[in-house]
Amino acid sequence: MTKATDGVELTRVGPGTVMGDLMRCYWIPALMSSELVSDGPPVRLMLLGEKLIAFRDSAGRVGVMDHRCPHRCASLFLGRNEEGGIRCIYHGWKFDVAGNCVDMPSLPPPGFKEKIKARACQVVERAGVVWVYMGSRTVAPPLPAFEILDLPEDEVRVSFIQRECNYLQALEGEIDTSHFGFLHAGHVDPDDLAEDEPVFNTVINRAPEYHLADTAWGTQYAGYRDVGAGRTYWRFGNFLFPFWTQAPNGEFGSHMHARGWVPLDDTHTMFVFLWWKKATTAMSLPQPAFKDGSPIGGTGRGNKMLPNTTDWLGRWRMAANANNDWEIDRAAQQTNRIYSGIDGIHLQDQAITESMGGIVDHEFEHLAPSDQMITRTRKRLLMAARALRDQGTMPPGVEDAGVYRGARAGYFVSPDQSAWQELYANQLAASLRPAQNPLRAAE
Ligand code: FES
Ligand SMILES: [Fe+2]
Repeated sequence: MTKATDGVELTRVGPGTVMGDLMRCYWIPALMSSELVSDGPPVRLMLLGEKLIAFRDSAGRVGVMDHRCPHRCASLFLGRNEEGGIRCIYHGWKFDVAGNCVDMPSLPPPGFKEKIKARACQVVERAGVVWVYMGSRTVAPPLPAFEILDLPEDEVRVSFIQRECNYLQALEGEIDTSHFGFLHAGHVDPDDLAEDEPVFNTVINRAPEYHLADTAWGTQYAGYRDVGAGRTYWRFGNFLFPFWTQAPNGEFGSHMHARGWVPLDDTHTMFVFLWWKKATTAMSLPQPAFKDGSPIGGTGRGNKMLPNTTDWLGRWRMAANANNDWEIDRAAQQTNRIYSGIDGIHLQDQAITESMGGIVDHEFEHLAPSDQMITRTRKRLLMAARALRDQGTMPPGVEDAGVYRGARAGYFVSPDQSAWQELYANQLAASLRPAQNPLRAAE
C-alpha cells in the first residue's frame, strides 16, 4: 500500500510540487507540429497545471508562453498573431517567441519594453512534435535519446489522445502487464487460435511469471511463460523517467517507440505516442483473428475522436468517454464476444484507468505480487523527486539523456536459457537499430 503522503507527492504536478518540479527538469512533448500554423490562431495549452498559449510566428518559429500578458494579465490567447509575434489586443503590447516585448504602442516613446518579458518556455520541434522545456535553466538539457528520435522524421508516426485521469494511473496501466489476458483477451480461447497469432502466447497462460529491475532509464520488467519445446515467450516493458513507457505490443526486433503520459493537470493526461512506421507491431499487423478468420472481438481499430475545441482541455478527446460509459456493449460482454464489452484495445485501457476516478486513492488499493512493477516504479519516481528536492540531485535521463538509447520493449520467443538481462542484451544487439541522428551528435 502506498502511503497517503506518497500518493499526493506522486500525483500532483503543479508548480512547486515535488513531482511537478521533477517533471520540469525534462523536455515535454506538448503539441503536434501540425496544430500550429504560421500567423494562425494561438492554441490554449494546459501543461503541468499551467495555462500556456502556443503559436507559430511568421517565420515558422514556435512560441509557448504563459497565457497572461505581463502588462495586465489579459489572455494572449485572444492576441493577434502577426508579423513575427503575438500582440495583446488590450493595449497592443507585442511579444516575440522568446517572450521579448518588441512593441509597446500604448506608451509614448521610449516606453520601457526592454524591461518587460512574457514568461516563455524554450521550444524545439522534433519528429513532428513541439517539445517544451518548462524548467528554470538558461540552457535546457538535451532531448531524451529515444531510438525513435534517431529515425528519419518521415518514418515516425505520432498520435495524441487525451485521457481524463492523473498521469500516474494512466502510466501504470501500461506497466500492468497481467491485465492483457483479461481486459483485452479474457474471451479468447487459445484452442480457437492459430499458434502464430500474436495473441496466442498471452492467452495460453494468463498468469505469467516476472522479473523486474531498476535500470538507468527507470524500471524494466520481463513477463515470461513456458510455451513448450524448451521455448519461452518473453514480453519486455519499460518505465522511463519521468512519464514514458514502452510496451510489449510489437516484435522486439523492430519495436522502436515511446509512449508519453504527459500531465496536462492533476486529472488530465495527454498520451503522446511516437512509433516507427516500419515496425512489426499491433498497429501494423492485421487485426487479430481466430483460426476461422473471424476477427477477435474487442480488437477493433481506429479511435473515434471528438473535434478539437479551443478549451484548455479541448484537444484530442475520444468520442467514447465517461459520459457515455465508454460505449460499453453489455450484450457483447454477456455473450463473451468481447470480455469487457468495450471495443478497441486503447479504449479498454482508457475506460479502465478513467473509471478509477481523477486520481486513484492509493490507500484503497490492495497491490498484489503481480503489481511489483507498479510498486517499484512509484518508489523510483518518489526517490528521484525527493533527491531532487532534498539534495538537488538531477533525476535519471536529464544530464545523461543517452541512457534512453538502451531501452527497448517488445515480445519474442526464445530457446535461449540465459539469465533474463543477458537475454535482453543479446536481443537488443541483434535488433534493428537506428543510426544516431547527426542532429543529436552534440547532445
Ligand atoms: S494587458 Fe496586454 S497590453 Fe495591456
Ligand atoms: Fe492494456
